[in-house]
Amino acid sequence: MMQVLGIESTCDETAAAVVVDGRKILSNVVSTQTDLHDVYGGVVPELACRRHIDMMIPVIDKAIHQAKITLSDIDLISVSYAPGLIGAILIGLNAAKALSVAIDVPFLGINHIEAHLYAALMSTDIDVEFPCLGVVLSGGHTALVLMKNIGEYELIGKTCDDAIGEAFDKVAKIMGLPYPGGPIIEKLAKEGNPNAYPLKSGTIKNRPYHFSFSGLKTAVIYSLKGQNANSQTPANMTLSEKANMAASFQQVAFRDVINKTLKAANEWGCKNILFGGGVTSSETLRELFSEKNTNFNLIWPSKTLCLDNAAMIAGLGYHKWKNKKNGDSLDLDASSKTAFSVNAK
Ligand code: KG4
Ligand code: ZN
Repeated sequence: MMQVLGIESTCDETAAAVVVDGRKILSNVVSTQTDLHDVYGGVVPELACRRHIDMMIPVIDKAIHQAKITLSDIDLISVSYAPGLIGAILIGLNAAKALSVAIDVPFLGINHIEAHLYAALMSTDIDVEFPCLGVVLSGGHTALVLMKNIGEYELIGKTCDDAIGEAFDKVAKIMGLPYPGGPIIEKLAKEGNPNAYPLKSGTIKNRPYHFSFSGLKTAVIYSLKGQNANSQTPANMTLSEKANMAASFQQVAFRDVINKTLKAANEWGCKNILFGGGVTSSETLRELFSEKNTNFNLIWPSKTLCLDNAAMIAGLGYHKWKNKKNGDSLDLDASSKTAFSVNAK
């Protein structure tokens, strides 16, 4: 039996968790900072770092306490080291390194995006057959990934500009709605007409599986404020206009994801599709996929594992350890950009 302590601080959640053998979650503590960034319409890195510093030790303490273990029961420390806000990552990474030295337990750096996909594997009882298609939809990333096994990936498509969650957040900001935008847009969209605004999804020449959400965001600004308007001040809108725009934007963004996902799963012969990242907590997205009635197994992360958390970091750490049988060295650097497919394997 292996008890892994997971630590996460890549963006605006300080999180720690204890997971046994990559699956059994003993604790999963998440301290979110949305209250802090709400008024700015997005994450302010310096504020995020300060809050991580305040919360890191209490959150780790709480995770150990809730798991009903002590530090001496930990066999491995697993920490996200990429990608994300560099200053924020460093706080979790340095906490992991310090703890690793203090309690004489190895630590492993984990790619946060890879962990988002592992969250779906942690959430299902079916024996997932590889290769499967991984779909990452988060605030920082949008990617289609061929998963040949845990740790063996090939990037099929990615966003060329904004991530899908980022687009939800920016569109919300234009409409004067709070951060994060995804949940509130989903709620408003239920009251709106998805065909009210004629929006189009972005395509990239000769790259059928790549995404582009920045044009869609600009189209939202222009539809609301006129050609060449800027995005600095929120548009003046009635509640029903907001609902219509939320529904129109959400429909176009999700249809784009669904079309590209199903096409890629067909082309690469994947029976299973694994989802990960904050946007996959959307019930609307899940319903739209189900309505397609395909033969694919759609494997979603459980609701507690969609958004940033450390259980997925601890879970994936267990598998990495089994393959590598070795911890990382203390000079492992944080990385803001490590590409998913390059880092993996
Ligand atoms: O995975 P995550 O917690 O952070 C990153 O790793 O980036 O994802 C956060 C993102 C935010 O952009 C948020 O607006 C989006 O997930 N999100 C949603 C929904 N819930 C959260 N987007 C669309 N619909 C939702 N229901
Ligand atoms: Zn994330």
